[in-house]
Amino acid sequence: MIQLENLLVQMWADYCKINPEAKRVFDVLTAEGEQILNDHIALRTFNHPRLGISSLSKHFMDLGYEIADQEYVFTEKKLFAKHFMPPNESLPKIFISELELEKVSPFVRESVNKLIDQLDSSVIESASFAMSGRPWDLSYELYSQLAKESEYASWVAAFGFRPNHFTVSINNLKKYSDIKTLNSFLKSKGFILNSFGGEIKGTPEEHLEQSSTMASEIAVSFSDGTHKIPGCYYEFAKRYPQADGKLYQGFIAKSADKIFESTNQLK
Ligand code: NI
Repeated sequence: MIQLENLLVQMWADYCKINPEAKRVFDVLTAEGEQILNDHIALRTFNHPRLGISSLSKHFMDLGYEIADQEYVFTEKKLFAKHFMPPNESLPKIFISELELEKVSPFVRESVNKLIDQLDSSVIESASFAMSGRPWDLSYELYSQLAKESEYASWVAAFGFRPNHFTVSINNLKKYSDIKTLNSFLKSKGFILNSFGGEIKGTPEEHLEQSSTMASEIAVSFSDGTHKIPGCYYEFAKRYPQADGKLYQGFIAKSADKIFESTNQLK
């Protein structure tokens, strides 16, 4: 039986392997004496009958996670999302989104359905499904065609099932517990932040402020050659207490909508 902490450590290792920049952010903060706790880990999938949010969340619920009652809708990106609360506060929440295939073009839907036809059920059933990577053959040509309509679809097609981002809990930092100070520090170290809709998404009044790096390009092998494409990004979240004094634990669709663009190609 897989242990939750082991799974999360392995997911972090997998994420750092394909996203060395996240490890560099982690290292520069650690060098400042910070101890990093993750606020959440984000996963992406398609709402195909064999997949969907539940195909990923199942494995976390088996390990003690509980579904939260909030739902998030991203009309323009044709996404739906839910989040899951960990069995103890020091562990990250899991945020899972899915592309609504009935809303995309027939081309994207049929292309994605064909990829999923290559997916063996044993992969979906495996306790390490959330870090299993890309389970299908994919050409760079198809990747590029998908990206024209949905950067989200092309990201999942290229990377499969693995963390899209980890998120540093700013509340847990000491020197950098203010998001502006943290952003300035990261920029001074040469990291590029996502500025779609402003560097800081959300406000204290909304109980959540977020920022993120832009995903750097990494070399990915496709059936027709190796190409550099945007990989994963690292996110930062600061939570504020609600009227009841407890820290807000949900997400804000309007902010997440812009954060999703951290994996867009920089034009
Ligand atoms: Ni996030």
